[in-house]
Parts: sequence; C-alpha cells; structure tokens
Amino acid sequence: MSKVITIAQQKGGSGKTTIAANLAAVFAIKNNLSTTILDTDPQGSLGKWFITRQEKLKSKNTIQFKTASLWGAQYEAKSLKEKSDLVIIDTPPKIDADGRPAIEVADLILIPISPSQVDFWATESIIELAKRKKRNSYIDKQSER
Ligand SMILES: Nc1ncnc2c1ncn2[C@@H]1O[C@H](COP(=O)(O)OP(=O)(O)OP(=O)(O)O)[C@@H](O)[C@H]1O
Ligand SMILES: [Mg+2]
Repeated sequence: MSKVITIAQQKGGSGKTTIAANLAAVFAIKNNLSTTILDTDPQGSLGKWFITRQEKLKSKNTIQFKTASLWGAQYEAKSLKEKSDLVIIDTPPKIDADGRPAIEVADLILIPISPSQVDFWATESIIELAKRKKRNSYIDKQSER
C-alpha cells in the first residue's frame, strides 16, 4: 500500500530538503520502491537536486519528481499515490496553518530539528497540527556540524 511521508518544520534550514533527498534515494535504490518526491517549496532546492541527479544518472534514475503549491499538496499526493509506492513531500519553512493539506495527507510526518531552544519552540505548531489530524510524527535532530 502506498505511503506518504511529509517533512515539515517551521524553522528554516533544519534539514528538510536533505532528508527528503536522502530518503528518496534510499527507498528507491535499496528498497526498490517506486518513489516520487513532491516539492512544495518555491525555493526549489529539491528540484535542483533532482535535475542534477537526473542529468548524471539518465535512464538509471528511478525517482520521479513533481512540484505543487503547499495548498495543492494533498490533491497532488493523492493522485501520485496511484502510481508510486512512496510519496515524499518537502515543505517550505514558516508554513503554519498553510501546511494543513501536506500534514493531512501524510502517513508519517518527519520534523527535523536543530538542538536549540528556539528550534524547540518552532516545532510545537507542527506537532500540534499533526496531533489534531491524528497523524504519526517523528522528530529528527541534526548531527553536530
Ligand atoms: N543531518 C545534518 N547534519 C548536518 N548538516 C545538515 C544535516 N542536514 C542538513 N544539513 C545542512 O543544513 C543546511 C540546511 O539543510 P536543508 O536545505 O536540507 O534544510 P531545509 O530545512 O530544507 O531548509 P529550508 O527551510 O531553507 O528549506 C544545509 O547546508 C545542509 O547541508
Ligand atoms: Mg528546504
């Protein structure tokens, strides 16, 4: 059964896009799952990663890529689930209530966090949103830089 993982955190630069890219590569290569990454961040970093990877790997690339607005994430992810085993949604920072569609559609929400007090405060709203929508969430802290 297809699953959706959403990576969300209010605070910028906490590692969302890096986790999205790494998870997609691991699931596609090691687990042989058909994997689609859905970029809802206008910064487009995940798309840049995908294009660079695609140019290198050409037909060996098995990851699919799509973009959507944050608002359209739920609709797009539901349609992608028809064709993919796994959909990974990368979100922009400062999403607040706008992130609801991406949270609602997820089977699992990953919340990366840098270990500082301000990052803990910024994490509460996503945890609350996930709880309200009765979704599992998991907090992942960045390693020491
Ligand atoms: N686990 C990690 N350990 C150390 N550094 C990391 C880790 N994950 C990401 N980084 C670094 O942190 C920076 C921000 O990472 P990334 O762009 O993935 O964060 P982001 O949450 O997507 O940012 P934004 O909110 O701007 O979209 C990058 O320089 C990245 O290389
Ligand atoms: Mg990002």
